[in-house]
Amino acid sequence: MTSLRWKERVLRLVARSPEETQDIAGRLARRSRPGDVLCLRGPLGSGKTTFVRGFARALGCRKGVASPSFGLVREYRAAGRRICHADLFRVAGDEIADLGLEEYLLEGRWTCLIEWPQAARALLPDDRLDIRFLSLRRGAARSLRISGCGRRAMRLLTGAGLP
Ligand SMILES: Nc1ncnc2c1ncn2[C@@H]1O[C@H](COP(=O)(O)OP(=O)(O)OP(=O)(O)O)[C@@H](O)[C@H]1O
Ligand SMILES: [Mg+2]
Repeated sequence: MTSLRWKERVLRLVARSPEETQDIAGRLARRSRPGDVLCLRGPLGSGKTTFVRGFARALGCRKGVASPSFGLVREYRAAGRRICHADLFRVAGDEIADLGLEEYLLEGRWTCLIEWPQAARALLPDDRLDIRFLSLRRGAARSLRISGCGRRAMRLLTGAGLP
């Protein structure tokens, strides 16, 4: 249950290029801590994996970020940080237990980024960031609606230096 002490906070940003999306991701990454969870929502090709790439790079990960193969979780590590990247597109709720995602979410040492998180909704902490990507009509612009409530989410939203 969401604590009533926390009011949802929402930021709306526009990223005009993949680089701007990665810059936003990098700012959040540098502010993030182990145990933080970021859910990446929005249609195919709207920039979710691009965001993960910027996030991992900002933490010093050299391994190339790609879409996880169907139903798999990818791990990135650098400088003492551990990132878990899941893509649950087309994963059904009853298949979630097989992926081992729960351990990553509960263990506390991982920062988890989850594309298409709907199938895992029963496992997600209330205190997380939800980022909704939308392609704007013209060119490469994407709108990002970043929302969250809870101590971790507030820390990310207020300290990342986002406008
Ligand atoms: N402002 C932008 N932000 C992010 N990506 C952009 C932007 N403008 C153009 N792009 C391009 O759009 C594509 C986004 O692809 P990406 O794989 O990140 O999407 P996705 O949301 O992860 O899709 P999927 O749901 O299939 O996993 C990339 O080719 C990227 O270069
Ligand atoms: Mg993707």
